[in-house]
Amino acid sequence: MTTVAVLGAGKIGEALLSGLLHAGRSADDLLFTERHAERAAELTATYGIRSADVPTAAKTADVLVVAVKPQDIDPLLDDLAGVVGPETLVVSLCAGLPTALFERRLPHGVPVVRVMPNTPMLVGEAMSAISPGRHAGPEHLAIVEELLSAVGKVARVPESQQDAVTALSGSGPAYFFFLVEAMIDAGILLGLPRAVAEKLIVQSAVGAAAMLAETGEHPVTLREAVTSPAGTTIMAIRELERHGVRAALLAAIEAARDRSRELGQPHDAD
Ligand SMILES: NC(=O)c1ccc[n+]([C@@H]2O[C@H](COP(=O)([O-])OP(=O)(O)OC[C@H]3O[C@@H](n4cnc5c(N)ncnc54)[C@H](OP(=O)(O)O)[C@@H]3O)[C@@H](O)[C@H]2O)c1
Repeated sequence: MTTVAVLGAGKIGEALLSGLLHAGRSADDLLFTERHAERAAELTATYGIRSADVPTAAKTADVLVVAVKPQDIDPLLDDLAGVVGPETLVVSLCAGLPTALFERRLPHGVPVVRVMPNTPMLVGEAMSAISPGRHAGPEHLAIVEELLSAVGKVARVPESQQDAVTALSGSGPAYFFFLVEAMIDAGILLGLPRAVAEKLIVQSAVGAAAMLAETGEHPVTLREAVTSPAGTTIMAIRELERHGVRAALLAAIEAARDRSRELGQPHDAD
């Protein structure tokens, strides 16, 4: 059994620790680092997991999960540089930071795996895409896959696709929230009380997601099944097509991919 240390137990780091405990990991095999003693004490009280400083975490753990904000990475890499070696697996959850940045700043041969998770990790339903760096092999990917399976689903992608992943599943939950918000507004427009509209739409979203996940059917098949000739659904679909909703989604996700590329550029250059 591996010992895992989460470096930076904020929203995502805490969600991962909590998911690992739920999946049956012992608190004794987990560690975290935090900047504020108060936050560390709160996490230890909630989960029974020890906090440590970076050198202790690096010495004790086989897997270091970096979960600080990308702008906080530099001092952490300075701290790690003197205390990790090729026997430690570094897993980065930091949006937009390439594995090459870690490889440049850490001793030669340290295996690095880059992960793009998303916020449903907070409820154990993350979609995480993982990519190996130069020194990470199948055994490292298998460890990361097992870890992240505790908090959702995992896909392997080449690192060159991480900007597309960021645009699709990284930001993806926000698109669904936006859609749900607009549909609740439509309910209000039609005269339904807000609470009723919210209940109808949230459960419809949950039900539709469960059908997609559980039946494995293509979304077109599922949509056609509720689209009867001259019925209500086709009238709505015609309006969605007339307003270019499909084209808007393609353009929106392309714009998110471009922004992800832009944000990553400073790290490609240093
Ligand atoms: N939230 C998301 O939807 C999401 C999705 C995909 C990827 N990610 C990635 O996940 C990472 C974490 O995001 P988050 O939303 O969980 O951020 P967050 O809530 O701000 O968590 C980061 C935590 O790390 C702590 N920290 C910073 N530097 C540290 C250091 N040197 N040593 C120990 N602790 C340190 C921060 O403490 P302070 O409070 O003092 O700053 C904070 O508690 C980011 O890189 C982000 O790109 C997040």
